[in-house]
Amino acid sequence: MSSTRIDRKPSRAVTTGTRMPIPSARGPVSEQLIALLSGSDANPAAFTAAARGSADEHDDTSIVFDDDAQLSLTLLYELHLQGLAGVPDEWEWNLDLLAGRAALESSFEAAVRTLVAGQHVQAGDVISQLWAMTAPSTGPSMSKFMATDASTEQFQEVLIHRSLNQLRESDVHTLGIPRLSGAPKAALVEVQADEYGGGRLERMHSTLFANTMRELGLSDRYAHYLNVVPAVTLASLNVLSLFGFHRRLLGALIGHLCAVETTSSLPSKNYSAGLRRLGFGSRATLFYDEHVEADSVHEQIAVRDLAGKLAEQDPTISSDILFGAAACLAFDDLLAEHITGCWDRDETSLRGSPR
Ligand SMILES: [Fe+2]
Ligand SMILES: [Fe+2]
Repeated sequence: MSSTRIDRKPSRAVTTGTRMPIPSARGPVSEQLIALLSGSDANPAAFTAAARGSADEHDDTSIVFDDDAQLSLTLLYELHLQGLAGVPDEWEWNLDLLAGRAALESSFEAAVRTLVAGQHVQAGDVISQLWAMTAPSTGPSMSKFMATDASTEQFQEVLIHRSLNQLRESDVHTLGIPRLSGAPKAALVEVQADEYGGGRLERMHSTLFANTMRELGLSDRYAHYLNVVPAVTLASLNVLSLFGFHRRLLGALIGHLCAVETTSSLPSKNYSAGLRRLGFGSRATLFYDEHVEADSVHEQIAVRDLAGKLAEQDPTISSDILFGAAACLAFDDLLAEHITGCWDRDETSLRGSPR
């Protein structure tokens, strides 16, 4: 594969305010990538070689916790989404970057499959299996802690972890729409229409999340906190992008959405209660209040009309749907374990100060 070079000439809209800011590197792979995207004379083929070297180093699930690899994947995926500040859009389809991404993705996908091995093979059809996998637990949970004990600072940390996804909520799941047909397509459109506020900016879930961030004294600028979130947070973002950017993983993308929708309503109630306990008003709680209502409907549409009808159209996709749901749940657990583990040790769950 030949190396391709992209001029630093300003591309249209490179200064748009919603773009992801260029972060600090976290190792040799992201250092090479950021140098390239920032317009240095770095060699794109050297990035590809560094990415392949990193991918080869990992076995089991270690890449999930590798800051350098996860940051690189986040940046590579972002080229297809909001884009990166000051970076020409032509990098999106650069062959060297795509080859490096493919190497990292191969290692990452293997890690995700290892992580969820054995967790999504149960008896019954895909609908009953999805309900069984996502049934509310009666044990302690992070959302229960947020309802009864969390401080404002702990709420701020959780919002920061979630902000990379929630400030563009639903965009990656929307990539499933053009790949579906018939009843499953209609079901996904129905869910996504609500996520985007039925076409009303002030009701878009990403807008509601931005309001919550501002009410808690945080910046709502897209990806403002990229530098302070750890690898596991980026990995939870990247697993969704992995599913969203590969048509062969459509079933996993749909399963991921089902897990999001079926595990949102009750925790959202707890988050809203916690914010009210701390004295915050409806502008801060509306994001969660909206999800208590909307997701009790969305979970039915997602599981029955989307996943269920998709499995009727193509029974062979059921295992992919369950894999995607299991992956979503596994990353939710990993992130919650990271956050609560840090708090148990009286440490921040972020990488340094968020300011
Ligand atoms: Fe939502
Ligand atoms: Fe939803």
